[in-house]
Amino acid sequence: MCGIIGILGNKAVTPLLMDALKRLEYRGYDSAGVATLLNGRIDRRRAEGKIVNLEGVIDEQPLGGTVGIGHTRWATHGRPTESNAHPHANTEVAVVHNGIIENFRALRKELEAAGHSFETETDTEVVVHLVTDYLNSQKSPEEAVAATLKRLHGAFALAIIFAGRHDLMIGARRGSPLALGYGDGELYLGSDSLALAPLTDRICFLEEGDWVVLHKDEAKIYDQEDRPVDRPVTRTVMSGAMIGKGSYRHFMQKEIFEQPVVIGDTLQSYVDPLSRRVTLPEMPFDFAQIPRLTASACGTAYYAGLIGKYWFEQMARLPMDIDIASEFRYREAPLPENGAALFISQSGETIDTLSALRYTRQEKQHILSIVNQPESAIARESDVALQTLAGPEIGVASTKAFTTQLVVLACLALAAGRARGSLSSEREAELTSALIEVPAQASYFLEREAQLIDIANEMADASDILYMGRGSMYPLALEGALKFKEISYLHAEGYAAGELKHGAMALIDEHVPIVVCAPSGPLFDKTAGNIQEVIARGGRVVLISDSQGIEAIGEGVTHAVEVPEVSPFVAPILYALPLQLLAYHTASIKGTDVDQPRNLAKSVTVE
Ligand code: F6R
Repeated sequence: MCGIIGILGNKAVTPLLMDALKRLEYRGYDSAGVATLLNGRIDRRRAEGKIVNLEGVIDEQPLGGTVGIGHTRWATHGRPTESNAHPHANTEVAVVHNGIIENFRALRKELEAAGHSFETETDTEVVVHLVTDYLNSQKSPEEAVAATLKRLHGAFALAIIFAGRHDLMIGARRGSPLALGYGDGELYLGSDSLALAPLTDRICFLEEGDWVVLHKDEAKIYDQEDRPVDRPVTRTVMSGAMIGKGSYRHFMQKEIFEQPVVIGDTLQSYVDPLSRRVTLPEMPFDFAQIPRLTASACGTAYYAGLIGKYWFEQMARLPMDIDIASEFRYREAPLPENGAALFISQSGETIDTLSALRYTRQEKQHILSIVNQPESAIARESDVALQTLAGPEIGVASTKAFTTQLVVLACLALAAGRARGSLSSEREAELTSALIEVPAQASYFLEREAQLIDIANEMADASDILYMGRGSMYPLALEGALKFKEISYLHAEGYAAGELKHGAMALIDEHVPIVVCAPSGPLFDKTAGNIQEVIARGGRVVLISDSQGIEAIGEGVTHAVEVPEVSPFVAPILYALPLQLLAYHTASIKGTDVDQPRNLAKSVTVE
C-alpha cells in the first residue's frame, strides 16, 4: 500500500526512481511523483493516476539530480489528485510516506495556529511542516526528524530529503515496512526488496520504530529511543528478472501459469517424497498438547485459512477458529492457555493480520505464520514462519500465493494429524502422494485453458454470478467469487451449496450463471442434488468437475469444465485454477485493468 523509493546516488536519479516506481506500482496506483535535489533546490513532478502519466509529465519537464525520492500512492486521506500526490514538499524538505498519521488533524490545527498554511488534504503534509518547524528552531535535520517522529501516531514509513543537503536522506518506519539498500557508494530506501532489486542485493530491513540517517558512505540506524543500533544486512534473492511478465499479457496470467512450479517448490520444502511424510521445522508447541488453533488472515489468505479449517478438523481432529483479521483484533476473543495462533499472509505486512498477531502475542499464544515474504514483519514477529515458495506475486489478485498457502496448510494439517494420533502413517503417505501429484495435474489442466474462454465470454455479459460448493469447496467458492469481482468489476457471491435454498435461490433465473465446484467424492451426490434444484429453476450452471462427475450430472448444465480426478483432500488446490482462469479471461474480455484493478492495492498496510 503506497510504494516508496529513495536514492542517494551518483548517477542521474530520475530514470532510476521511475524504474523503481514501476516495480512498486502494484502497491498503489492512484497517483505518483518524484522529487530530486538539483543545485541544492528541491524540485518535483507529480501526476494523478498511473506511473505512465508521470512519465508524460517528466518527458515534458525533465528532472535532474542524483538524489531523490519517489512515491506511488494508494489514497487514504485526500482524493487521488495531483495536489495530494507525494512527494509533499516546501523549499526546505520533501517527504514521501506510506501509512496513516492518525493524529494529523490535531497536528495540522496546531501548525496552522502557529502560522503554517497547508496545500493538500493529506495526513502526510503535517510531516513536512513539523520537520520545517524544527529546522527553523535551529535543530539539525537529524534532530528535526527525531523530534517529528515523536509527535506522530499511527503507522508509517517515511523518506525525507533536505534542500542543500546532497549527502543526506532520512528514513523511518513504524508499522509500515522500509528496507535500506547498500550500493556502491550509494544508498537506497524502498518499501520492499522488489523496489531495490536491480539496484542492490544487500538489504537491511528496518525494525519497528527504527529510523535511519543516510550519507553516501554510511547509514546510521537508530531505534525508537534514538539509540544507535546495528541491524543485519542480508543478501536478497530477488532479482529484476523475477519480476518481468515474460511472454504473458498480464502478471496475473503469468502467475496462474507458474503454479505447477511453485506448488512443486513449496511441496519440496515440506514433504519428503521418499518416506511420503511431512517434514516441518521445529514447532514452538506440540500439536498434541494444544486445545485449539486460532487463525486470522484477510481476503484470499482468509479463504485459504477457511479451507485449512476443514483439513485441521478432519485430519487432525483439532478444532480451529478462523477469523477475518480486522474483526478478530477487536473481538477480544478469549484464547486458551498454551494455545497456538496461525496467521496467513502473502505480503506478511497486512496491518490487520499483523495487529491480530500482536494481540495473540500479548495473550501469550504460540505464533505460527504462513508467509510468502520471509523478511516481512509477520514472518519476523512469529515464533515460526513457514514460507510459501510462490516467488514475487505482482498481480494484485492473489493466485499462486493462495495455492501455495493451501499446500502449506495441508502439510501442517497432516503433521498435526500425525502428532495427535488421528492419522496413520499409511493415510499420511496416501495424502502426501495426492499432494505430490498436484503440480502435474495442474500443468495438465492449464494446457486445456481454452475451455474457459467461451464461458468467460458469456460471463462477461452477466451482471451477477453465483459460486457454490460443499465442504472445502464452499470456501473455494467464496474465493472464486472474490477473484471474479475483484478483477471483472461484476458482482459475484459464493454460497455453501446447501444454503442456497435458504434465500439466495430467489436470485436464480436464466440471467445468473452459477459456477459449481463439485469433485467426485463423498459430498458429490449432495451437491449434484443442489445442481438439479438450480437447473429446475432455469439456472445456467457452469459445472467444474472431473469426468466421472460430469458424466454423473448428465444433461442440463450449460457448461462443464473438466478437471483431472483427484483425492477430495487436494481438490481445493486444483479447483482454484479454473476459478482463477474464469476470472482472468472474463476481466480480459471486459478490458479491465487485470493486474491493477481499480481502488485496490497489493499490500494493505492501513486498517
Ligand atoms: C485478493 C487478494 C487479497 C489479499 C489480502 C491479504 O486477490 O489478494 O484479498 O489476499 O489483501 O493480503 P496478504 O496475503 O498479503 O496478507
